[in-house]
Amino acid sequence: MWWNNVESKPYGGYPKHWDIKILEKLDEAHQAAGQKASWDESQANENSPYGTYDGLTISEASGIEEQALGYLPTDQEWGAPNIYEDTSTGYKGGNLGISTEGVSLPEHKAWFFYLQRICNHCTYPACVAACPRKAVYKRQEDGIVLIDQERCRGYKKCVEQCPYKKSMYRGTTRTSEKCVACYPRVEGSDPITEGLPMETRCMAVCPGKIRLNGLVDIDENNGWAEDPQNPLYYLIKEEKVALPLYPQFGTEPNIYYIPPRWAPRPYLRQMFGPGVEKAIQRYAAPSRKLLAVLQLFRATQKMIFRFEIEEGPLAVETEVNGEPWQMYNDTVIGFDANGDEAVRLSVVEPMIERSKKYLNSI
Ligand code: SF4
Ligand code: F3S
Repeated sequence: MWWNNVESKPYGGYPKHWDIKILEKLDEAHQAAGQKASWDESQANENSPYGTYDGLTISEASGIEEQALGYLPTDQEWGAPNIYEDTSTGYKGGNLGISTEGVSLPEHKAWFFYLQRICNHCTYPACVAACPRKAVYKRQEDGIVLIDQERCRGYKKCVEQCPYKKSMYRGTTRTSEKCVACYPRVEGSDPITEGLPMETRCMAVCPGKIRLNGLVDIDENNGWAEDPQNPLYYLIKEEKVALPLYPQFGTEPNIYYIPPRWAPRPYLRQMFGPGVEKAIQRYAAPSRKLLAVLQLFRATQKMIFRFEIEEGPLAVETEVNGEPWQMYNDTVIGFDANGDEAVRLSVVEPMIERSKKYLNSI
């Protein structure tokens, strides 16, 4: 299943070097237009939480013939999904490239991190605009982007113009395919959740408990309706701890990432935009509310639409980055689409001592 891959950044990518290639093309377009792209953080507001992008998006940078700037990867580039897996950037020089100095935060000299990638079900999907057959469409009810396999004739314009390279041509059917966001689960057709929206499979199976999937309401201006008790709205719009991947492409991707703390900031900024420093600060020393909401990741297969927090006692008092920091044993409660309680967790994990009788059992 290639729709859902994990890349070891900075070297890994599937197809190979997909992001470097499209970033280079965007650079060339700026040079040809005599422009320089930049972020104006002073213009941040509710609709542009990180400021405004002053530069060309992939649609603005394309020629008259195309809907968006793009390229078709070669067969070789599609050939090795796991290339550079677990390969870090190295130290230069002797000692077999191994540091004798040790490493410390905020940034490591040698680093890599995993970038989990599915289709971003973009708000302005380049794949939809690109298809001459109108075979790609975005669903009104949940924003999921799908390819109609009956209509598709394999023109590959969606493959060429999706900047994230998440529409994939399949030679055996001569059609393109992409992540379907597990739409039967999102619709609630899976018997486990009894008709209620359920998280996608890739979110639900994550043993690292780092994925959270949900739905938000859209307002009359096509933005996110204000809903601070929705966990996704809170994490993305209020706390701004999760950021979009390559926002400069302009498709408004709907997969958001909490950036890694140890990677060089310039690298992260070009990948996730100007919100990186603040997102890392907020994640490294989480507020009382953020710490409680983070417990909801992978706590249930049901989508959580609303959370509430019941305050608990002080559990830890310490310093983070030289500043005082407290942790409270609050309880977070997640509610499903019907408004019923779906999950309840405390910030301090309960410790359960196994009785001698079951010491060696699982
Ligand atoms: Fe389309 Fe690509 Fe956006 Fe997915 S990531 S919706 S395939 S443009
Ligand atoms: Fe359209 Fe892509 Fe098929 S461009 S025809 S959906 S291969």
